[in-house]
Amino acid sequence: MPLIPKPVEEWYKEFSKQEKIWIAIALAVAIILAATTLSWPLIDPKHEVPSSAREFNPTAYKEIANNFSSIYNGKLVPPNTDIYIAAQQYFWSISTLVLKKGVDYRFHLGSLDVIHGFTIVGNGTVYSIMVMPGMEYVFTMNFKNAGTYYVICSEYCGYGHGSMRMVIEVVA
Ligand code: CUA
Repeated sequence: MPLIPKPVEEWYKEFSKQEKIWIAIALAVAIILAATTLSWPLIDPKHEVPSSAREFNPTAYKEIANNFSSIYNGKLVPPNTDIYIAAQQYFWSISTLVLKKGVDYRFHLGSLDVIHGFTIVGNGTVYSIMVMPGMEYVFTMNFKNAGTYYVICSEYCGYGHGSMRMVIEVVA
């Protein structure tokens, strides 16, 4: 028996009240998401991810990052000092970064081997940068609140991925 479509009048029903409400909610959510995404540069103009990226020499960068860590690990980084962090399976080149609240710090970030994810969490802050090998990422961060922040690796990079952590202490 051939399938003959029914005429529209036979299957069409008006939307029920609940259906109309759900369609309105879904539309409102879609509009809000699209509007916040497009207007984000106006809401948070400093939130550049990242402001620049350039090719780098991993060997030279490793030395700069290790040098930075040997001077500043666990010690306050003075304002106007550039921060150098290298990511490597399975650690960050510095374990405790101490920064001053309300100061613009320029971060340099690079991976010496595979893709890592530099993600800062704590005090309502979430900041994330994917760190591709062979590139040096430069961005500015200003911590508005004192407290302890944690950096985790947010790109799966091997068996020790879960242990890639560092701490950022922001002091008043
Ligand atoms: Cu580094 Cu996951």
